[in-house]
Amino acid sequence: MAHYDPFAEQYHHMVQKGGAESSYRYILRQLQSLSDLQGAAICDVGCGDGELSSRLSLLGAEVTGIDLSAKLLAYARGKTGNVTWLQDDAMVLGKLPDEAYDCAVSSVMLMDVPDHGAVFRACHRILKPGGVMVWTVMHPCFQSPFSYPMGDGSRKVMQYAPQFWKSGGTGTIRSTLGAYHRPLAQYINDFMASGFSLLRVDEVERMDTSVDDLPLLFAAVGRKRE
Ligand SMILES: C[S@@+](CC[C@H](N)C(=O)[O-])C[C@H]1O[C@@H](n2cnc3c(N)ncnc32)[C@H](O)[C@@H]1O
Repeated sequence: MAHYDPFAEQYHHMVQKGGAESSYRYILRQLQSLSDLQGAAICDVGCGDGELSSRLSLLGAEVTGIDLSAKLLAYARGKTGNVTWLQDDAMVLGKLPDEAYDCAVSSVMLMDVPDHGAVFRACHRILKPGGVMVWTVMHPCFQSPFSYPMGDGSRKVMQYAPQFWKSGGTGTIRSTLGAYHRPLAQYINDFMASGFSLLRVDEVERMDTSVDDLPLLFAAVGRKRE
């Protein structure tokens, strides 16, 4: 299971440089269009250094940020005391009660867990009836080690099968922790099979288009079925 502690500083700096900005903006936009965030109970699953949780809290939400990494949670605690920060496994959410949250969000973390379906099911359990889940992942078609930039703004996709991968090199998050590559259909079908009605899916644009201008993220919004 991915453990970010040795990479907490590296990830925190990446967030400071805006590396996950398009995911935060997408999730905030979707939540704001669906519900009044003032007083809404929101769980940020795999909250990392707490950037998205903190922004949701500033918008008036009652936020619980969950992560496995104690070091990332330390950065999160340094950002705000207005969020409840908990060390917990996203695939279980064992510290959280049933049907307590209006929304669950998961920003670019499902590729880190061996069982993304377990995360969907855990989020389904903690959501109130009719609650909403918004999630983003690195786009599995274009942003994977099996998709090579051709130097002209395009990419060549070499493989698309579900598999665990590690990138080349050393000392990076993906060369050490690796990630799970899953096709779009697997994410969507497993989300719906976990008890969510699909409200929309999106392919979120890159902010930095220097390598290519293909979508950076795949994203979905669903509502817990009664
Ligand atoms: C790529 S980071 C994304 C962090 C944050 N959501 C963001 O968008 O900046 C993935 C996060 O998932 C967390 N994570 C990985 N596996 C987890 C698990 N089983 N339970 C809880 N958190 C997990 C990692 O510690 C890390 O903070």
